[in-house]
Amino acid sequence: MADAQPVTEEELRRLSEFLYRRTGMIFTETKRYYVQRRITDRMEATGATSFASYFARLRSDAAGEVEQFINAFTVNETYFYREDHQLRCLTQDLLAERVERRPRDRAIRIWSVPCSTGEEPYSIALWLLENWAQVDAYDIEIVGSDIDTRALKAASEGVFGKRALMRLSPELIGRYFEELGDEQWRILDDIRGSVRFTAANLVETAETRPHGQFDVIFCRNVLIYFDDASRRVAAENLYENLAPGGFICLGHTESMSRISPLFEVRRFDDAIVYQRPRAAHG
Ligand SMILES: C[S@@+](CC[C@H](N)C(=O)[O-])C[C@H]1O[C@@H](n2cnc3c(N)ncnc32)[C@H](O)[C@@H]1O
Repeated sequence: MADAQPVTEEELRRLSEFLYRRTGMIFTETKRYYVQRRITDRMEATGATSFASYFARLRSDAAGEVEQFINAFTVNETYFYREDHQLRCLTQDLLAERVERRPRDRAIRIWSVPCSTGEEPYSIALWLLENWAQVDAYDIEIVGSDIDTRALKAASEGVFGKRALMRLSPELIGRYFEELGDEQWRILDDIRGSVRFTAANLVETAETRPHGQFDVIFCRNVLIYFDDASRRVAAENLYENLAPGGFICLGHTESMSRISPLFEVRRFDDAIVYQRPRAAHG
């Protein structure tokens, strides 16, 4: 039976440090209850009888505990058509600029990172089908990535509850989802097959680099969990994964200007986005 004793200051500090080094996420004293609940869950799941035995297991990564630990601490809040003004900007401005003078046989690449349980990359796919007249003229590759392997599994299964769909009209739901009953809907296989899901850690260069260069990256609502040092690492990794002239959309409370001088700010009617300069600085 797990030890339900509250974690001490020192234990909290060690756990937070461990999580920070692996994910960039910062949990301070104000998140004590959040941390406590999750650590108790992990101790119960692993049968650890004390914090010390759990922490030893975590540090040795016994039975893949690091992955389970990270999965337990991520905040996966997301829903379809979140901040859809950025999706409008994508079809009205960003893609128009990206396809200028582009040969038809060069694919458009869009990365949703972090994608959590898939609502964001699937929203991009639906939005393009519904709102971009040139959708059939190009190969469009949409990649969804996250550090949380449990969220990625849910994303690739493509089953959603009412809350995830709350911003979609009944017409859109009828067109792109199959109703399963019990207030669950499965996204149609064609849409499911149009998004590729892969694991990526935004603060690990080696894990982001192989994804290659994208025309547009959606990196929304994760930098808020990082400190400035991890934000800078993430910004550099994102920069490397953007084609010159490519764009990044952040969450509405996030800004690149304070984090990194690598990007130019572009103000469009529907959104402020960040662009990798076409030519290198200097
Ligand atoms: C609040 S969700 C955002 C989902 C989506 N972008 C949106 O805005 O609706 C935050 C996600 O960030 C992921 N995350 C946290 N740290 C990460 C890291 N270092 N690399 C990649 N993903 C990370 C979490 O697993 C979680 O799914």
